[in-house]
Amino acid sequence: MRGWPDRWPYPAGSGGVSAPTAMVATTDRYASDVGVAALRAGGSAVDAAIAVSFALAVVNPEAGNLGGGGLLLVRTAEGEVASLDFRSRAPLSATRDMFVGPGGVATDRSLHGHLAAAVPGSVQGMWEAHSRFGILPWAALVEPAVGLAMGFVIGKRFLRSLIAPIVDELRRFPSSATVFLPGGRVPGAGETLRQPELAATLAGIRDAGPDGFYRGATADRIVDEMRRGGGLIAHEDLASYEAVWRDPLTISYRGHTIITMPPPSSGGVVLAQTSHLLDPFSLSALDWQGAEHIHLMAEAWKRAFADRNQRLGDPDFVHLPTEELTSPEHGELRGRGISRERATPSGEIVALKGGGREGNHTTHFSIVGPDGDAVAVTTTLNTWYGSKLVVEGTGVLLNNDMDDFTIASGLPNYFGLIQGEANAIEPGKRMLSAMTPTIVLGDERPDGPLLIVLGSAGGPRIITTIFQVLSSVLDHGMDLATAISAPRFHHQHLPDEIAHEPNGLRAGVGERLRSMGHQVVAKEEAWGDVHAIGVNEHGVLRGVSDPRRGGVAVGF
Ligand code: DON
Repeated sequence: MRGWPDRWPYPAGSGGVSAPTAMVATTDRYASDVGVAALRAGGSAVDAAIAVSFALAVVNPEAGNLGGGGLLLVRTAEGEVASLDFRSRAPLSATRDMFVGPGGVATDRSLHGHLAAAVPGSVQGMWEAHSRFGILPWAALVEPAVGLAMGFVIGKRFLRSLIAPIVDELRRFPSSATVFLPGGRVPGAGETLRQPELAATLAGIRDAGPDGFYRGATADRIVDEMRRGGGLIAHEDLASYEAVWRDPLTISYRGHTIITMPPPSSGGVVLAQTSHLLDPFSLSALDWQGAEHIHLMAEAWKRAFADRNQRLGDPDFVHLPTEELTSPEHGELRGRGISRERATPSGEIVALKGGGREGNHTTHFSIVGPDGDAVAVTTTLNTWYGSKLVVEGTGVLLNNDMDDFTIASGLPNYFGLIQGEANAIEPGKRMLSAMTPTIVLGDERPDGPLLIVLGSAGGPRIITTIFQVLSSVLDHGMDLATAISAPRFHHQHLPDEIAHEPNGLRAGVGERLRSMGHQVVAKEEAWGDVHAIGVNEHGVLRGVSDPRRGGVAVGF
């Protein structure tokens, strides 16, 4: 493949399954099969998404969840679009500086244990989605997950998530170790993982809807767990949780329509800004992933993330400049400072400092139903296994989404993001997210043909991953599978560096970027976990899972 670095491990066009009618692309075979079964039973694409989401909470426990939150984007075949925000929220007794320790340093309590957990939104989100777009009975969509919780055969992805540091952290909580380390050891491939308490919790949700989680015995156990461990989630937090329908953001890009997530996701705003910033540069004429191409993307991301990090937060709490930031005029203004030859130091864009860490701990899936409805869902516990805390007696693993807030002024969070006042902790507020479920149409008409459904894990790198996949397809004419296999680059304003995947840089490109004034840093691990569906000109669907971590697309 032209432009492919010599030692890049993922072949062009790797992965992908074609089918004429419907497709479910997820991280896991069990979950994809559950989604297909819902579609075959006459369910809507949203029905399938609900069934998949509950199944992933069982078979992909490091990221799929009941105890976290997420974002869902839907576009019906008739052209109706909607996005559902079931992001977790800060408990009502949360305080702005709850993670600041003595001497103003950040503690690790935003990442581990009881205090890290925000009020989960996943169950309420699925219920809301079902109320609006469901066809099959709710119970039928939860039931497969109950069965899987009684026992499923462990596969590679689950085992690869149980790396030593995670195992050590899970051991800190006996209720977690009991579930994921049965008999005190890491289970082997082919063994059956049984989660009877999770099965009982799911059965309660199957029978009572969200009341099976936010009220009654499960809620009592969550609150008891919080009391034991110094966490904040109270009955009132659970009973008052609401998922919110929001208007999706729509971006015109190179003759296509990109429909994506508005705040409290930062994904849509950064995608819009990036596309406007890059508008004057015809990317298609550039040497793909040559120095100038990577330089221009980095310059755009640096500016878009500077705005994101300082100005975005929960739209229900802060007045957001969404319209301003996503306008072509703002892009044009911000873009004026971009030079083709020289990197602008991040300090000249906004004067702050930062550092970064990496990870892949969220789960995305994409579905196209037989009627042409499309759904993109990204859910998260934040980092792998979230807070690492399973609520005793429930099998429910809680998130550590609190770390997505501005945990302390001027200090980086887990993803190295240095964020501002707009994303400060407040009671009941949603923390800013980078999750970017996205749907692309083949032309600029709102009723244009479906072209791509996609999303990814990867923290802030989700957004740059989505941009690169889309730009490789829309600007460079690459097929979707190849675009997903391709090396990725990232810049998030601070730290002021272009990050790249190991072996992801072509010979000579790093030197050239450095000569332009960039810091260029090879990360230890590849990132992102895209599960996408493309539609070709004959209407054939192609499900593609990221070769970095694998997944299973199933169609019919
Ligand atoms: O919502 C967010 O932006 C993060 N909690 C997403 C975390 C994630 O993607 C983990 N994977 N690396």
